[in-house]
Amino acid sequence: MELTFQKPFDAHLHLRQGAVLSGYARRAAAFFESALVMPNTKPPILTADDLKRYRAAITTAVPNWRPLMSFQIHSHADIPALKAAGAVAGKYYPAGLTNADSSSCQTLADFDSVLAQMEEFGIVLSVHCEAPLYSEEVRHRVLDESLEMSVRFPNLKIVLEHISLEREVEAVRLAGENVAATLTAHHLTFTAADFIGSKLNPHLFCKPILQNEKHRGALRAAAVSGNPRFFFGSDSAPHLPEFKTGTAVSPGIYSMPVTLPLLACLFEEADSLTALESFVSVFGRRFYGIPETSEKITMIKKKLKVPFETDGVVPLCAGAELPWSVKESEEK
Ligand code: DOR
Ligand code: ZN
Repeated sequence: MELTFQKPFDAHLHLRQGAVLSGYARRAAAFFESALVMPNTKPPILTADDLKRYRAAITTAVPNWRPLMSFQIHSHADIPALKAAGAVAGKYYPAGLTNADSSSCQTLADFDSVLAQMEEFGIVLSVHCEAPLYSEEVRHRVLDESLEMSVRFPNLKIVLEHISLEREVEAVRLAGENVAATLTAHHLTFTAADFIGSKLNPHLFCKPILQNEKHRGALRAAAVSGNPRFFFGSDSAPHLPEFKTGTAVSPGIYSMPVTLPLLACLFEEADSLTALESFVSVFGRRFYGIPETSEKITMIKKKLKVPFETDGVVPLCAGAELPWSVKESEEK
């Protein structure tokens, strides 16, 4: 069995920087015609110059590719300059969560004037959506304040990134047309039991952490539902092996090598293979206003033996065999 469709768009991708960037970028370009690149480099992408330099590094690695750029929101963000440099999204990292520089992270309400300008200039607000585990009180703060902003700024498009909870799925369904969410292949496929079952697997450690089957079920239903406000963002986030062992393990999953095969499995299981193209290639582009592409990708029902190492990183599903592959992906 084969499946040919518009080459996908990844609405949430980490490419890192320096020597490792080129391998990660080439891998992504084999499977995705375009991707929105996250700004949590070290130091983060804050200014128009940072953004231009980062895009140049990516296009040097893969000249014929279309990276879409984002910046990290901070109170002095120069929105007109960022827009002129080609920024598509501003990323909000809430205080104390994930691998971002937290110095500029407060609450969304602290960025009122920046959000107003983003609305005016047509820049999407991308929200790191994570409910902190340690505090019931602030558990849904990020979600609640994002929804509040979607009402205060009705022309500001908001993407809740890598949603992982049933409550978040429901919130997006009920929110206005300006609110959408990305779903990752790993949150759709795995649960906390896979991550911390009989033995802890550091290669399944990500933020937000994997949840139980009830939540995974809600995410899966959303992915295959055909609702255009749920679309794919891989959150592929490679970390070199030394950061995945020891007493301080970094969150992040290198899913890029297997992300499309995993999605094909999921959509096949749900008897919804025909909905896969919309989820990975159509809805994200439409929400971001990105042109379609005539490039195609072909998936084939042929076993993929996942190596234990790809691009110097342990990929998701290392050592496993998956029923779907991307045809001739290495030649693209
Ligand atoms: O698991 C994650 N890793 N979640 C994020 O939001 C950031 C990412 C990274 O940059 O490693
Ligand atoms: Zn991410």
